[in-house]
Parts: sequence; structure tokens; C-alpha cells
Amino acid sequence: MRKKIAAGNWKMNLLVDEATSLASAITEWYSKQYQGEAEVILAVPAPYLSLVHAIIGGHKGIYLAGQNVHQEASGAYTGENSAAMIAGVGATHCLVGHSERRQYFGEDNALLAKKIDRLLATGLVPIYCIGESLQQREAGQTLEVIRSQLSEGAFHLPADAFGQLIVAYEPVWAIGTGVTATPEQAQEVHAYIRSLIEGQYGPSVAANTSVLYGGSVKPANAAALFAQPDIDGGLVGGASLKAPDFIQIIQAL
Ligand code: 13P
Repeated sequence: MRKKIAAGNWKMNLLVDEATSLASAITEWYSKQYQGEAEVILAVPAPYLSLVHAIIGGHKGIYLAGQNVHQEASGAYTGENSAAMIAGVGATHCLVGHSERRQYFGEDNALLAKKIDRLLATGLVPIYCIGESLQQREAGQTLEVIRSQLSEGAFHLPADAFGQLIVAYEPVWAIGTGVTATPEQAQEVHAYIRSLIEGQYGPSVAANTSVLYGGSVKPANAAALFAQPDIDGGLVGGASLKAPDFIQIIQAL
């Protein structure tokens, strides 16, 4: 059965002491007090991967993720990080196609398909982010956007490779805005995502793929979102920067 996952995306936030405190507080609580089955993934800025790995490493159920990766294995790409580098300092997962990468860095589905291939070839689990903009939602294009992002970015994979992926639905209009999709709005898209996976790969792969919701997840709305049948956890931005808030969100799972 698919996993329940609370992923925190720190984005480009926190100074080194703050990152250390936050990772330590979450690890301490998760390893000593948490009784549930949800897994935790921390997607941290690249300069903090080693540091956070030293804190969480060896603790069962809590994993480290990069926020982005270059599609090539190595070479003259100043400023970029390779999948092998990210894996080499302890990451097991990596975000791909976050809407901020799509929007500000021009990443498109064809490029993201290559990044997914590189991560899988390196043994890292891609967390593939998809989601429509407000303009697309208002134009009634939500499901079509989701279909093309999912199929163009990931449906080139054979079933066993696709089965490694985590999918994150993050409506762009809900990211960092304080406006959350209602549980019903999110569930509608999550069910659609699962139906697309089923159409491509069959019921078993569809039933076993974790599909996370992201976009203004907070302690106050997490439980209602996670109660939906096709929402398997959250990809949390702002609320993952405060240990008490992120812990409450993990508990809501
Ligand atoms: P917020 O939770 O801050 O809206 O960010 C969501 C997000 O983009 C997580 O990847």
C-alpha cells in the first residue's frame, strides 16, 4: 500500500543555525515521540544537505531531499548540482518540477523528464511536482494542464520506474498565498491524477503511488486535506519552517 508522507520544502530560507535547530527539533520529536507511520522528507537547500544528513541520518522514517538537480551526470555547468552529488551527501529523494522552477527558471516538461531519468538512474526518488496556475484554473484548463504535465514529464517511464515516483499536486495559486485548495478541490485533482496513472500503468501502480498535496498546508487545514481518500500527505512550504507547525502537520497524517 502507498506510503503517507509529510515533506517539508524549505525553499531558499533559513540561515545555517536555524536549519540546524529546525532539523534537530523535528528529528528529536520524530524519533522519540512519534508513534505513527507517516514518513518525513526534508527538502533543504543544497548547502545544507550534509549538515541535515548528519542530524537525521540513521533515524528511521526521516529522509533527505534535494530541491532541484541538473539533468546531466556531470560537466561544465557552473552553479549546478548533480544527482550523484546530492546522493553522495545523503539525500534519498529530490524535488523535480516545482512550480517555482517552472515559473522562474523556465523548466518545461521535456527537461523535467530528463531530470527524472537522471534521478532514477542515480537511485534517487523523484518527487514530481505538477499544478495549474490561477489563470489556467479560471479558464477551465486544470485537468488538461495536469494531464500534460504528468504525461509529458513522467509517462515515458516503464511501470517499474514510474512506481518509484512520488507525485505532488501543488496548485500554483495556493502556494505561499495563504489560499488553500478546499479538500474537495484537491481531492478532485488527486483522483484525476490517480486515474491517469491507472490508465497508463494499471490499478496496482496507481494504488501504490503516493500523491501529496502542496499549497498553504497549515496545522489548521492539514487534517481535512489528509482525510481525503486520494491525498497521501503534504508537501509543505512555509509551515515546514517552524518545528511546532510541521510537527502538527505530521500528526494530522
Ligand atoms: P506553501 O506551503 O508555503 O504554500 O508552499 C507550498 C510549496 O510550494 C511546497 O513545495
